[in-house]
Amino acid sequence: MAKTKSAYFCQNCGYESAKWLGKCPSCSQWNTFVEEVVEKSAPNVPAWKTSSGSQRSNKPSKVEHIESSTEKRILTGDQELDRVLGGGLVTGSVTLIGGEPGIGKSTLMLQLALNIQNKRILYISGEESEQQIKMRAERITLTPKADCYILTETSTQNIFKQIEQLEPHIVIVDSIQTLHSAHIESTPGSVSQVRECTAELLRFAKETDTPVFLIGHITKDGAIAGPKILEHMVDTVLQFEGDRHHIYRILRSIKNRFGAAAEMGIYAMNSSGLREVTNPSEILLSQRDEELSGIAISATLEGARPMLIETQALVSVAAYGTPQRSATGFDTRRMNMLLAVLEKRCGFRLSTRDVFLNLAGGIKVEDPAIDLAILAAIISSHEDIPISSKTCFAAEVGLSGEIRAVNRIEQRISEADKLGFDRIFVSKYNLKGLSQEKYKIEIMGVGKIEDVFSALFG
Ligand code: TYD
Ligand code: MG
Repeated sequence: MAKTKSAYFCQNCGYESAKWLGKCPSCSQWNTFVEEVVEKSAPNVPAWKTSSGSQRSNKPSKVEHIESSTEKRILTGDQELDRVLGGGLVTGSVTLIGGEPGIGKSTLMLQLALNIQNKRILYISGEESEQQIKMRAERITLTPKADCYILTETSTQNIFKQIEQLEPHIVIVDSIQTLHSAHIESTPGSVSQVRECTAELLRFAKETDTPVFLIGHITKDGAIAGPKILEHMVDTVLQFEGDRHHIYRILRSIKNRFGAAAEMGIYAMNSSGLREVTNPSEILLSQRDEELSGIAISATLEGARPMLIETQALVSVAAYGTPQRSATGFDTRRMNMLLAVLEKRCGFRLSTRDVFLNLAGGIKVEDPAIDLAILAAIISSHEDIPISSKTCFAAEVGLSGEIRAVNRIEQRISEADKLGFDRIFVSKYNLKGLSQEKYKIEIMGVGKIEDVFSALFG
């Protein structure tokens, strides 16, 4: 019998060590080392072709002699997913989809498997039985356009055997944490197993040009479970997020070797699966007939797509000594900074007020262009004067109360214009080279917060 060999792995970053360490030398985390058995099979041939593994060695070639080829892309039939992937699924790519349990990762992938045209798809599930998947497929009620095969199996060696017979065009693995490779003895979900299974699937994808989707669990703090290197190994990392109690789900690209990162797609989860939301601005703006104070609309960009988002603020007298500050969908530290700017530069006495902030639709925004709308919503609530629902904002606010320019201003303005807004506040530094005649909307260039407030509240 082969001697079993074990090593210690950092559960946080995947660092390997021969002996136990208290502190990981790679990621500086304490107490993260766990012993795992690593027993490599003697000849190290690719697991998916144990009999005739090819060991090609490459020669260096000059850049100008390498033939350029545009990557081949498969359209998935899901416009949101295609856009997030950078214009379709690249052949031979490995895509990792992370997200909290119950958010809809399996639903998204099953829908893709049923919806894609004229392809043979293999959906491998280590989490659910065939019956459970069938029930979900019935719920989604899509007429399958593809040959979709379900395999409930967790051993990579068996999976590759089936793949060799079926020769699928796309492989989906639900989830990477349930797989195990016979080459390694530790339990499924451990660092070395996840790493080995991903490596085997990666080799398979690259050598056969088959795209592979991996579903990944995430940990309590929102990182994809398993070693950090998992994210380095794959080509694309997508995150599926949202509030489980809201119907909207957001698919965000965190890393993409074949397209822009920070792209996002929006879905609505209803009783028959996920539906694409193609006009996000319309759902993110609440329908209201009367003007209410504390609401301001921001023209933000997520990835390449402009979106108008409603920011809502509530400012009230603090009932207890320390005022409460809370924000949903927006960084609380940034909100505190904006409140400090208002106190210091504009003389609003907010230190005795509770301030609550909410972005409609359960969405999270990191675009700094939302700053001005947030300030306007706070002041509107504080003064109890509504802002016209036809006014929107797109500018960053600096520490001294200056209104700063933001990128891609034309795109933001045309989206607001298209949706029928009649006034947009932007930084005056954004006006250079902007032709106002193109738009029906009135463009207000402002330099200081005071200018905005005198224009809004007189
Ligand atoms: P699921 O895809 O199982 O999530 P994950 O794989 O990320 O754990 O999604 C399960 C949730 O989605 C569950 O709470 C039920 C809900 N759901 C619907 O609301 N409508 C549907 O048509 C389906 C299939 C699921
Ligand atoms: Mg699932």
